[in-house]
Amino acid sequence: MIKLLLLIQLLCSAVNGANILAFFHNPAISHQFVFRSIVKELSLRGHSVTFVTSDPMKDAALTNITEVDISASYQIFKNLDASIFSREATNLIKMGILGLDFTQNLFKIQMEVEGVKEILKKPKDTYDLVLIEVGNPIYNGLKYKFKAPLIAISSYGIPSYWHELLGNPTHPFLYVDIFSKYLDPLESIWGKIDSLYIYLVNFFLGEFLIFPSTDKLARSYFGNDMPYIKDLVRDTSLTIANVNPIISDRRPLAPNVVEVWNLHLNRVEPSQKVSIYAGVKLATKYQQRIVPKGVTRLKICI
Ligand SMILES: *[C@@H]1O[C@H](CO)[C@@H](O)[C@H](O)[C@H]1NC(C)=O
Repeated sequence: MIKLLLLIQLLCSAVNGANILAFFHNPAISHQFVFRSIVKELSLRGHSVTFVTSDPMKDAALTNITEVDISASYQIFKNLDASIFSREATNLIKMGILGLDFTQNLFKIQMEVEGVKEILKKPKDTYDLVLIEVGNPIYNGLKYKFKAPLIAISSYGIPSYWHELLGNPTHPFLYVDIFSKYLDPLESIWGKIDSLYIYLVNFFLGEFLIFPSTDKLARSYFGNDMPYIKDLVRDTSLTIANVNPIISDRRPLAPNVVEVWNLHLNRVEPSQKVSIYAGVKLATKYQQRIVPKGVTRLKICI
């Protein structure tokens, strides 16, 4: 009898794909490669994904993905000298202030895109899961907007202050910030001071400028009764970082923060390879210090 009941139950069980909103805001192909591979795999497993991206794949074979093109985001680079986002050119505090302005303008451009407006008009229970990129808190507002669990994914590592919000240890002498110019702060006193400085600047900017200002902007789009945006960040269901745990900072992580790696390697089409080099060029604008002067060609072996 029990076996019969079990058999009936097994026959009746249905497998349902989830309806997922994947909103990846960063107009940077090197970031989008990582998100593409996740979104693609989710769709192939039968989930229905709405992929908001600056670099749509436009692959007709991926029938379970609906792409919303936010390539209008690239407008933001038109009047911007990206080289100011380097520590040689700008001090950290000013960079934080400029960065906030940049991300808020980017958000406003994206909210004007017709496809995004349509998403925001949808009922609260439309999506079973929301995926966003780590680092810009305003998109955490989508968790409230759609009352759904939210997974934040980083295409690289996680900044120290973000680790703090997620409950991970952040002692600046032990765990170097991903934006530090020193790779191992334990080796020199300057490394320790730099790591502490980055941590404090990010903490104070976050507490007194970035979160209050982001919260105000988020409310005007997602609703005024939203919880404080920092609490929504703390309430992230799962955070995934694309770093190799063998060579990462060896930081202990809360159970809802996981490191995975090589997500960016799933890019085989020749047309995409061309874009990787474009991505490298852009990245060197931000990170001039890692490329000696006079170097015009880079070969990257992974
Ligand atoms: C789309 O999802 C269905 C299930 O809803 C699945 O059977 C199918 O393989 C998926 N197709 C593609 C191309 O991803």
